[in-house]
Amino acid sequence: MATLLRVDASLRTDGSISRAVADTAADAWRAQHPHGAVVHRDLSAAPLPADAWAQSVGAAYTPQEQWSPDQRAAKELARTLADEVLAADVVVLASPLYNFGVSQYAKVWIDLLITDPRLGPGSTALQGKPALLVVAQGGGYRAGTPRHGWDHATAYLERILRDNFGMSVDTVIADLTLAGVNPAMAHLIDAAEQSLAEAHTSATQHGTRLAAAARATAQTAA
Ligand SMILES: Cc1cc2nc3c(=O)[nH]c(=O)nc-3n(C[C@H](O)[C@H](O)[C@H](O)COP(=O)(O)O)c2cc1C
Repeated sequence: MATLLRVDASLRTDGSISRAVADTAADAWRAQHPHGAVVHRDLSAAPLPADAWAQSVGAAYTPQEQWSPDQRAAKELARTLADEVLAADVVVLASPLYNFGVSQYAKVWIDLLITDPRLGPGSTALQGKPALLVVAQGGGYRAGTPRHGWDHATAYLERILRDNFGMSVDTVIADLTLAGVNPAMAHLIDAAEQSLAEAHTSATQHGTRLAAAARATAQTAA
């Protein structure tokens, strides 16, 4: 069965733009795969334990028979997370920009995944697997804008997904999302609305394309 893994890293549920744009991509995918499965890993609703990564790294340097209960639990969690990614045909990761960096929810998820032996450095288990990265940014960071270069999340996430995991990555960005609530950004409201509309259009296109690619792969395999 075709499977989409949906991963959310926004603090918000109501009003979350990254979630809304990722919903659009998932809906487009689901329209082509009505019997497909959407597995949801909501890193905000159910945060991963902050110390699990350290425990899992520690386990790698400890003989298995000496693992502590915390190390055992962390390795099990990393395995579960890796299983979800490995089982998916496509991964949609929705992650806001926080404090000019990556959501800590997404960072813990990534760090734990990398501790699973199947997804560590040099692994090829996810080679070519499609990933759609959806980013929401309160401000604007495009080339030529005053804060170009201040977004330290998007390139990092693309680097990890593409170069660490070998995934085939596309990115959709909705920027200026604070234009409607920050009076100093009132002159950017039109630009924000345009960015959001373009993000939804792009998400629909990517969702549809990824579904078609999964169908073609399934037909070839049959
Ligand atoms: C704690 C916090 C920190 C934020 N830091 C930034 C930031 O550094 N730069 C930025 O452009 N927007 C920042 N934002 C705004 C979010 O990126 C923006 O609201 C985005 O739409 C959040 O994603 P969501 O709509 O999916 O919840 C921040 C928001 C919060 C709550």
